[in-house]
Amino acid sequence: MRVGVVGLGYVGLITALVLAEKEHVVVGVDVDQGKVEELRCNRSPFYEPGVEDLLAKNRVTYTTDYSALGEVDLAFIAVSTPTVGGKIYLDHVFSAAKSLGEVLRREAVVVVKSTVVPGTARKVGEVSGRRVVSNPEFLREGNAINDTLHPDRVVVGSSDREAGDRVERLWEFTGSPVVRTSLEEAELVKYASNSFLAVKVSFINEMANLCEALPDCDVEVVARVMGMDRRIAPYFLKAGLGFGGSCFPKDTLAISNFARERGEDLRLVEAAIQVNQLRPTRAVESLREMMGGLTGRRICILGVAFKPETDDTRESVALRVIQTLRGEGAEVVVYDPRARTREARQVDSRDQCIREAEAVVIATEWGEFRGIEDSLRGKFVYDGRRVLDPSRMDRRYFRAVGLSRSGSTSGQG
Ligand code: UGA
Repeated sequence: MRVGVVGLGYVGLITALVLAEKEHVVVGVDVDQGKVEELRCNRSPFYEPGVEDLLAKNRVTYTTDYSALGEVDLAFIAVSTPTVGGKIYLDHVFSAAKSLGEVLRREAVVVVKSTVVPGTARKVGEVSGRRVVSNPEFLREGNAINDTLHPDRVVVGSSDREAGDRVERLWEFTGSPVVRTSLEEAELVKYASNSFLAVKVSFINEMANLCEALPDCDVEVVARVMGMDRRIAPYFLKAGLGFGGSCFPKDTLAISNFARERGEDLRLVEAAIQVNQLRPTRAVESLREMMGGLTGRRICILGVAFKPETDDTRESVALRVIQTLRGEGAEVVVYDPRARTREARQVDSRDQCIREAEAVVIATEWGEFRGIEDSLRGKFVYDGRRVLDPSRMDRRYFRAVGLSRSGSTSGQG
């Protein structure tokens, strides 16, 4: 098929690259001239495993000019949908819809891939004057290509059967189950899924808090045993500093405000947001208690990306930990294998970061932060992502999320 993709951010670019890999003719449009030029030179705007290889094959046409979409059968809208003042900001979506209405053939289909509140795709249909399909994306950063090639499910929401069939055919190569829904159901599935996962993370983080107050208790053990129940499943039960990134914080806020405007309170989702907001403060308090004060102390933060295998720091909890520590007068030095930040002085090696500081906080679970117990000897340590083996740490100088503050926890598990 001839496919257009508007918005070459994470979701748009990966969609474009994967569809081109599957022999479709793909044109990618973005308003950012700089980004388009970089892409033409096969340079990725972000770090994501496998993207450079796909870019090097150079199969997608990149442009800022919508008129290049005149011949496409399908045009994806994959522009960003930020949350501004707690509400979803949809201007990019509607301006893309308007531009598409000016250039697309009459029988072309507009496919909304951006995460949008229910009712948006229907309006996109009105603004563009074309048939519309909602096809939400469930890819994770760090695993984006694989998730696009092998999604757990493909959701095709539409009131026009032939338009839905066309999108279904496009993703046939995945071999994944396809679920046909209404437009609104497809839009809500996306928020319900992200919100549920966020609730799961906040739930285990509250259990972690309780573990810390009990003797001989480790949330890792609790989570592992919970996850053995197939109804619960082991995923998204990793306690830590909380969820960040470009999706969970934004989407939970957007859907709870959207629901409230319709007279429905999403109490569980709101609670998940609140629990998450307290994570960095809690970590800093724990560190302060252990060190007996933070003013003038030098602290190394290992990891600023919101999770490993990405250079993305959007809504990263690590950044909030850094800001809080600096607010308390601590001096912060950071290291991350990929991500960059201006929030604190950054050094190029993990060992230098540890050497320079009196205390170490592990804020992102990069592989290279595992097995470093010996090099942390003599430092105060806060393991915010549970990568260290507590049995190899001196418990007088060590705290970890979800691990008893007192007692004889062996740490095995
Ligand atoms: C998330 C969803 O997982 C994707 O399905 C969805 O498509 C995407 O949002 C989106 O809406 O675009 P992503 O933001 O890439 O993907 O990252 P996740 O792997 O879901 O992690 C989100 C945050 O939760 C991270 O900060 C991670 O550290 C944290 N997390 C995750 C935990 O603290 N514990 C866990 O057990 C799992």
